[in-house]
Amino acid sequence: MDIFERMKRDAGPLGQYQKIAEGYFMFPNLKGELGPHMRFNGREVLVWSLNNYLGLANHPEVRKADAEACEKYGMAYPMGARAMSGQTKYHRQLEEELAAFVNKPSCYLLNFGYQGMNSIIDCLCDKRGRDVIVYDAEAHACIIDGMRMTNCKRFSYIHNDMASLEKRLVNATRLANEQGGGVLVITEGVFGMTGAIGNLKGITDLKEKYNFRLLVDDAHGIGTMGKTGAGTGEYFGVQDKIDVYFGTFAKSFAGIGAFVASEKTIIDYLKYNMRSQIYAKSLPMPMTIGALKRLDLIRKHPEYKDKLWENVHALQSGLKERGFNLGRTESCVTPVYFKSSVSEATNMAYALREEFNIFCSVVLYPVIPKGEIIFRLIPTAAHSLDDVNYTLDCFGKLKDKLDSGYYDTGEVVKIPELIEE
Ligand SMILES: Cc1ncc(COP(=O)(O)O)c(C=O)c1O
Repeated sequence: MDIFERMKRDAGPLGQYQKIAEGYFMFPNLKGELGPHMRFNGREVLVWSLNNYLGLANHPEVRKADAEACEKYGMAYPMGARAMSGQTKYHRQLEEELAAFVNKPSCYLLNFGYQGMNSIIDCLCDKRGRDVIVYDAEAHACIIDGMRMTNCKRFSYIHNDMASLEKRLVNATRLANEQGGGVLVITEGVFGMTGAIGNLKGITDLKEKYNFRLLVDDAHGIGTMGKTGAGTGEYFGVQDKIDVYFGTFAKSFAGIGAFVASEKTIIDYLKYNMRSQIYAKSLPMPMTIGALKRLDLIRKHPEYKDKLWENVHALQSGLKERGFNLGRTESCVTPVYFKSSVSEATNMAYALREEFNIFCSVVLYPVIPKGEIIFRLIPTAAHSLDDVNYTLDCFGKLKDKLDSGYYDTGEVVKIPELIEE
């Protein structure tokens, strides 16, 4: 079949919703200053869908640092890949400061979290496929896609289930020994959709029995978890047992780019072998200098994280008191689970936006398993307790109607006309 013909016939699991969702549920255009109060489709909304955990996105010092770096260097600088012509003292300084922050000897910058993770996995694994990967069944797409780049055999273990991991480790160890390779275990520190915390304590305890290297994707943990915000390894007191630690700038750091931290020889190996960085241009200067400023603020202002957690606790306990199911979250990620149909969920999300001016993301398959629908709320340090209380009132009203079957119309809501401002 012609490739284009196939794509026209089947738009894919998310693409099938384009006609009924675009501009409103999918690809919505939030306008105004980044923060809890923005404009959407002609009105002010209370936003719960930005991973701006520490509220840095619109912090005046961040905005100033970004603007000054842009003014001084432009977006082009430095030109070329790090290894060829893209090195600067700021890139190195950021790496040194990040390494110290996450308590690892060495660190290397990545242009993007997603591609960075792909490339780390590709680079860590044996090119002849002798290694074996054991990964959490709920791992993020960047982990799945990274594994697909390798020739290595892989086994998933039941999400956060240490008995299942151990079973997999037995088989993986046997296979790796036969093949002359090693074992790589991969998990997220905080699972970005469910909010569950990866059982890093349990995983690292298994290191006493099995020989493996541990790679942790801490995209949602960096800045939010641990005493200093150094992430989920710090939270569990096992950072030294994480062999390769990954964090992104796309969430708490409110920027773009990412980093990988490990012992020096391993970072040196990654620097010279990681294809996402060797064959791509260096992180632009505003992102690099901007990340230095963000790191500085994170270190100097633990109160941002404290405020974040105050909001998290207030929101999560209030939702639970009102009978909502938040699943397994133990982190800032606040998923509200519904067993609803797509039509009922869109009716509710529509009511939240149109009646209550509350904007949160609606997540469905393939981002999460089939049959589940999540309204995903991300509290930030920039939200106020008034924002939380207002949201709890509205969710309470929503629940009354949901329980009475009000939203179960059997029809997907027709999205309103989109207003250009
Ligand atoms: C767990 C996890 N890993 C990696 C990424 C990718 O990060 P980035 O947005 O920096 O590409 C994300 C972001 O969605 C994530 O949630």
